Amino acid sequence: GVQSVGKLPVLGFNTWNAFQCNIDQDIMLQQASLMKSLGLQAAGYNYINIDDCYAEKNRTASGDIQEDKIRFSRGMRNLTDTLHAQGFKAGIYGDAGWTTCGGYPGSYSHEEADAKTFREKWGFDYLKYDNCAIPFDNITQEGTYGRYKRMSDAIQNLAKRSHKLPMIFSLCDWGWQQVNLWGAEFGQSWRTTGDIAPNWDSLAHIININSFIASSTHFYGHNDLDMLQLGNGNMTYEESKSHFTVWALMKSPLFIGTNLSSITPEILGILKNKDILAINQDPVWGEGITPFRWGINPDWTFNATHPAEYWSGRSQNGTVVMMLNSQNVEAEMSFNLTESAWIRAGRQYKVYDLWAHTQTEIAVRSITKRVPPHGVVAMLLSDAGQEPAGLYPACSVWW
Ligand code: GLA
Repeated sequence: GVQSVGKLPVLGFNTWNAFQCNIDQDIMLQQASLMKSLGLQAAGYNYINIDDCYAEKNRTASGDIQEDKIRFSRGMRNLTDTLHAQGFKAGIYGDAGWTTCGGYPGSYSHEEADAKTFREKWGFDYLKYDNCAIPFDNITQEGTYGRYKRMSDAIQNLAKRSHKLPMIFSLCDWGWQQVNLWGAEFGQSWRTTGDIAPNWDSLAHIININSFIASSTHFYGHNDLDMLQLGNGNMTYEESKSHFTVWALMKSPLFIGTNLSSITPEILGILKNKDILAINQDPVWGEGITPFRWGINPDWTFNATHPAEYWSGRSQNGTVVMMLNSQNVEAEMSFNLTESAWIRAGRQYKVYDLWAHTQTEIAVRSITKRVPPHGVVAMLLSDAGQEPAGLYPACSVWW
């Protein structure tokens, strides 16, 4: 069933953000081999996914979707066999409408046949399913829900018939029809917004939208904040760290989306942060971190420029806390421990910094840090026992 795969967010590489339509079999294999040599596969990124534009513009005479005969001349099966032999899983892309966003064949009314092609003929383990060129709803009356159900049913039926695990199904419907409320019925992740761009404004917008629906993420189903833009555009180092931290701690799938042949050591270091990845892949708790306070904008309002700044959630090793500075200047950020639902009053906490990889302090009651513009502080708090007696006068009122 739907819950037999994809319990944890998927980690991997996807072609779109770096290559758009300029893809072929050699680029796939080159990026896969870099995933290995750069240590990214060993860090857990084990999916190599093809996005749009791999197909011929027309189906075969018998109605089958077919790979581009020049750019994928050795055939998709050869490619997935090679990737599997290298220890990777492989992902492919399709669309719930008549055509993909790039104008290649969509799977509407071909769901059964295309699921079979992707899974059985070509050997893919994962399907990203886009939302372009959809039929008129007033004719089909199916809605976004109905179109994604069609493909989900096809994937599940195929798995049942073949006694094999279903493909992971990644819904790419850009948050339509409140997909966060039903996406887990059909797949393992669902996009919540339109496309990400490699700049801070786009990140802030995505963070803001997702801050209101963060609790839709749980085991088996994840808000998908879109593929990583780390290494693209001209984000600062701090912005890149924030990008990765928020995506990982909200338990989004993490797809590397930059050309690995020109990746810098700084970006590689961010992507390989073991402490952050461990939270994303935490085997105990399914949900991502949620905001407990909106920052310089104190109300819980929709503010794409200044998303929530104070977040927390559970992990197997303690409480995860994140402070995100949405301002263009350095800020002193501070919170009282009990603002987080996961922290108990009257206890002190060991503070482990997930970027410095070291314990920074024992916190009693509050934590204060200087955070660079658009920067982040991410911490793991673990119980360190009762607050020392006599530290505070017994009758005074704190906070
Ligand atoms: C849509 C999706 C993107 C990408 C492109 C490909 O815009 O949201 O992630 O797959 O289509 O055309």
